[in-house]
Amino acid sequence: MDIAVFSSKPYDREYFLRANESHGHKLTFFESRLTLESVVQAQGFPAVCAFVNDQLNAPVLRVLARHGTRLIALRCAGFNNVDLVEADRLGLTVVRVPSYSPHAVAEHTVALILTLNRKTHRAYNRVRELNFSLDGLLGFDLHEKTVGIIGTGRIGTITAKILLAFGCRVLAYDQRVNEECVQMGVRYTSLEELLRRSDIISLHCPLTPETYHLINENTLRMMKDGVMLINTSRGALIDTQAVIEALKTGKVGYLGLDVYEEEADLFFEDLSNRVVQDDVFARLTTFPNVLVTGHQGFFTHEALTNIAETTLANVTAFERGLRSGNEVSVDRIVA
Ligand code: NAI
Repeated sequence: MDIAVFSSKPYDREYFLRANESHGHKLTFFESRLTLESVVQAQGFPAVCAFVNDQLNAPVLRVLARHGTRLIALRCAGFNNVDLVEADRLGLTVVRVPSYSPHAVAEHTVALILTLNRKTHRAYNRVRELNFSLDGLLGFDLHEKTVGIIGTGRIGTITAKILLAFGCRVLAYDQRVNEECVQMGVRYTSLEELLRRSDIISLHCPLTPETYHLINENTLRMMKDGVMLINTSRGALIDTQAVIEALKTGKVGYLGLDVYEEEADLFFEDLSNRVVQDDVFARLTTFPNVLVTGHQGFFTHEALTNIAETTLANVTAFERGLRSGNEVSVDRIVA
């Protein structure tokens, strides 16, 4: 099948070309992000492969459908950037990669926690300048701290498992109780109890209309003073302006982000010679207790291998008139 691959980087090319040796699709790589301006490039491609910050809103989907696209193959797990109602109306099939390496994201989550706590990023720079002072590097034992996991699906469960091995108490909030977590010793609570009791809170639920700005002025107020807040899920789970105010008062003592509400205009590009226009993001980078990584949680060899293989297998199944099991239907967003 002819596939237009948007937002493609050299590493996407490498992994997709390798995986495609056993699929034989025709891949055309576009560096540009899929938007209403760039969608013209997809003309005549029956399949479009898109990533987290590609825009698949109603206007873009309409142009795609009009120009012959029948399949949207997301090479990511989240599908919050797709207007599924419109896709359904237009008869477009949407597939995704539900799980490629939950370990990659869970391990990155723990890396953010450890870095913020023990300040290894600051120590690295100090030692290179022969500054061996420990002032400002004081951390705390993770052992016996309470961690609240919001969303105990694939990634939340592995994160809980790793933190239990550190000797943490793990609380969880999810509408669905995951028996595996209960067996491991995770205790399910209400959202409010989790917010009130946790020393560290980590977000692992999807972005839906219900979870949009889950972390806001009200929920921040319920948290412990000096709480550590980690988000490796989707940026808009957090009201960034509210969290900045909470950082200023010390309510939030540490903030670790791999995702950011307005990341589409920033992440995955080298902007080091440009003037950042996003004042909210610029403010975030001024706090010594904030650590931002540019949506790299997924970025491991194993994950890229699985993403490429599953995406191309999804396309192959569609081409043969089969279901891959990775279709995203409109009722998923109502759940
Ligand atoms: P999953 O679907 O296995 O688990 C999500 C869990 O969240 C489910 O147990 C679900 O019941 C729960 N949930 C849904 N609504 C909730 C709510 N309102 N409150 C509490 N829990 C709720 O998803 P998985 O694979 O664990 O991924 C989690 C998120 O991580 C994804 O939605 C995606 O946004 C993000 N992600 C980030 C990556 C990165 O590179 N930083 C890479 C892959 C995923």
